[in-house]
Amino acid sequence: MPIQVRPLSYGIGAEISGVDLGRPVDDATRAAIRQAWLDHLVIVFRGQDLPPPRQIAFGRMFGELDDHKSVPFYRHPEHPEIYLITNKKIGGKESQTKDTGRLWHSDHSFTTHPTMATMLYCLEIPPVGGTTMVCNMYRAYETLSPALRAVLDKLDAVHSLEHYSAHNPYFTSRDPEQIRKMNELSPPVAQPVVRVHPETGRKALYISEGQTQRFVGMSQAESAGLLQYLFEHSVKPEFTYRHAWKVNDMLMWDNRCTNHLAVPDYSHQTTRHMHRLTVLGTPSGRLLEPQER
Ligand code: OGA
Ligand code: MN
Repeated sequence: MPIQVRPLSYGIGAEISGVDLGRPVDDATRAAIRQAWLDHLVIVFRGQDLPPPRQIAFGRMFGELDDHKSVPFYRHPEHPEIYLITNKKIGGKESQTKDTGRLWHSDHSFTTHPTMATMLYCLEIPPVGGTTMVCNMYRAYETLSPALRAVLDKLDAVHSLEHYSAHNPYFTSRDPEQIRKMNELSPPVAQPVVRVHPETGRKALYISEGQTQRFVGMSQAESAGLLQYLFEHSVKPEFTYRHAWKVNDMLMWDNRCTNHLAVPDYSHQTTRHMHRLTVLGTPSGRLLEPQER
């Protein structure tokens, strides 16, 4: 039976029904899912039973999976492809990922091999909140004036994990030694401010409040005003979808044309536990030259 695709908002997002991802998915269904994902940027599957091997098998249908080497400290003990986004204590220690994603970002844009897709699967969710927002960065680009688009088309911007950790108020629980290691694993990179999507050919803004520090060749002070404008512009309500999770939901978003945010709208007295998997994309950007730092 063909899948059904129901848009979830005007600007972004669709719910896919009529498929059980817990079982092998045939080629026609996979192609229909991929098309719906390219069209809607983030897709939602409800009521899926996905133990890690099944989530991994589904992920592999879309490409090579990341083993989270750039953030190695919170992988699933038996499945390095699965990264735990959780506020549960593990081994008696406070979770290092309980506040992952609290600033808008695109996964791994601070590397030269950023991810294509993220698949986030919900195992436990607080009674209220714990929502995730996703915004449409094609629309963010397309709604700018032609003159500003022409300026941005020529610019690169610095993305770094160091910047993300330094200005993120939720990063305080992380141990400094771990932050040092993360920065060593991921030195700053230059990414195009406008990225051409390798599959759709459409242009999207590729900057984020979390990870973008400044324009290449400009100081942070020179960049700040325009970047702040773009951060605010790109998350206008009409460009966003906000997902209220239920257990067994799986969300799959396209990191090449969206940013996302883990909204801090719940209490850590309640449990939120997710399995994340990321599919690698085509390379983007380059390491910053020492003289550009
Ligand atoms: C992520 C992320 C958002 C969330 O897993 O990459 O940003 O809502 N998660 O947990
Ligand atoms: Mn993320």
